Amino acid sequence: MASFWVLLCCCLCVGIAHSQPPSSVNCDYIDTEINAYKPIVDRIIAAVSKGGFFQSHTYATLSNFVDKFGPRLTGSEALERSIDYMVNETRDFGLDVWTENVTAPKWERISEKVSLVEPWKGNIPVLALGGSVSTPQGGITAEVIVFRSFAELVEKSAQVSGKIVVFNQDFISYGDSVKYRSKGASIASKYGAVATLIRSITPFSLGTPHTGHQSYDDGVKPIPTLCIPPEYAEMLYRMYKRGDSRIVISIDLDTRQGTAITRNTIVDLKGRESPDKIVIVSGHLDSWDVGQGAMDDGGGAFISWNSLVLMKSLNLKPRRTVRAILWTGEEQGYVGAVEYARRHADEMKNVIVAMESDEGTFTPHGLLVKGSLQASCILKKIVRLFKPINATQIKSSPYPVGSDIELFQAQNVTGIALINENERYFWYHHSAADTMAVLDPIALDYCTALWGGVAYILADMSIDLPRT
Ligand SMILES: *[C@@H]1O[C@H](CO)[C@@H](O)[C@H](O)[C@H]1NC(C)=O
Ligand SMILES: *[C@@H]1O[C@H](CO)[C@@H](O)[C@H](O)[C@H]1NC(C)=O
Ligand SMILES: *[C@@H]1O[C@H](CO)[C@@H](O)[C@H](O)[C@H]1NC(C)=O
Ligand SMILES: *[C@@H]1O[C@H](CO)[C@@H](O)[C@H](O)[C@H]1NC(C)=O
Ligand SMILES: [Zn+2]
Repeated sequence: MASFWVLLCCCLCVGIAHSQPPSSVNCDYIDTEINAYKPIVDRIIAAVSKGGFFQSHTYATLSNFVDKFGPRLTGSEALERSIDYMVNETRDFGLDVWTENVTAPKWERISEKVSLVEPWKGNIPVLALGGSVSTPQGGITAEVIVFRSFAELVEKSAQVSGKIVVFNQDFISYGDSVKYRSKGASIASKYGAVATLIRSITPFSLGTPHTGHQSYDDGVKPIPTLCIPPEYAEMLYRMYKRGDSRIVISIDLDTRQGTAITRNTIVDLKGRESPDKIVIVSGHLDSWDVGQGAMDDGGGAFISWNSLVLMKSLNLKPRRTVRAILWTGEEQGYVGAVEYARRHADEMKNVIVAMESDEGTFTPHGLLVKGSLQASCILKKIVRLFKPINATQIKSSPYPVGSDIELFQAQNVTGIALINENERYFWYHHSAADTMAVLDPIALDYCTALWGGVAYILADMSIDLPRT
């Protein structure tokens, strides 16, 4: 599963070249039927637009949620209480809701401090990476060596032993660069490094470190690993290149490891004719332990949840079941989704489509689809109805989209992600800056309208969306 950790969390479709279905694919037979949904889509859009009863509702419910519970790390009490809250809120709304237990890794940040000792004294902003071990009692103080790539490390591997390795890799794209976060410690440890400091995986920085998951390869000695802002990685690299003085850093890190029981939250709007057939909308409720987890992935979870609330409010009763899943344990390697796929294996054949929003809920432009040409053709006709909010794009992805919904796509279920103005997504991702301040009420309203409207039509139209 080499790609597993690399692809983890919100990186799948960033920077991928999209291919369009050839124009020879035809699905005009469905035109009339899809166009008949226009009055319903117009009602959905009116509900979230100025003066509509659902206007700002997604922002209001999400901000209320993240302000109440804060960040929701898997294994934390905050996450479990936030799940209870979602169950209560949903039940009050008259939708079917339940949770399913998931055993997940529990990692806790207790304390962390990194200071430059030579050539001058001062603290460096830092966040330990998920899964990192602690430093020994008294911390680690060692000389620093800086690399811009794994290849450079291998070239100079004879100099690594006993040192703190700093990776100052360029940001190419999240997908290309995240391997330094997920595997940097394992690779440096093989050559005798005592700790690693990784340049945060972000194209932009105002001095904030970005955390994220990492795991140790089998057989390597686990060493402490933390991320630092790009500004400091660059500074250490300049110092190292000049070579005119020793660079010494001191690291003091305390973390805890264990396991915990957490829960996926599942909400059903039961289908009126074929309740066994399921259209899934989803996002993950868990987050990292910094910021508020508002963007990653409060936004995705709340446009999914509000899609059902909106359908229920409009008294829409689709033919098939629409299911919202608020995943747990995504940040630790989508452990909630793995457990769901295991527990619901028999149901896979009845899942029509799996939608996940985990790459931002900024102004929406359309949908990214991993599926058959026929599915893309039909979805193109559906999104035309969203012209009033300019969310009419369909792009096809050659790769699975989303992370929690990857296992569905492995079983030929069509996967759908949200195309939105997420150019700044990784500026905030996994950092203290992931708060409500980066989200916009109108953009969230349009996301909910598109997400819910598409899910409704897919659940209600006469044919099942053709599988991959
Ligand atoms: C959920 O509802 C139960 C039963 O009414 C209540 O005891 C509990 O405090 C509520 N939990 C949250 C987090 O709102
Ligand atoms: C889920 O986990 C909780 C907490 O450990 C436990 O009390 C409960 O019995 C479990 N539920 C099921 C259905 O296994
Ligand atoms: C959609 O795009 C058009 C043309 O750029 C613009 O005039 C209109 O205001 C946009 N509509 C919305 C809802 O953003
Ligand atoms: C998925 O599609 C491939 C190619 O058509 C087929 O070989 C495979 O059996 C399908 N798998 C499932 C689970 O339907
Ligand atoms: Zn995410």
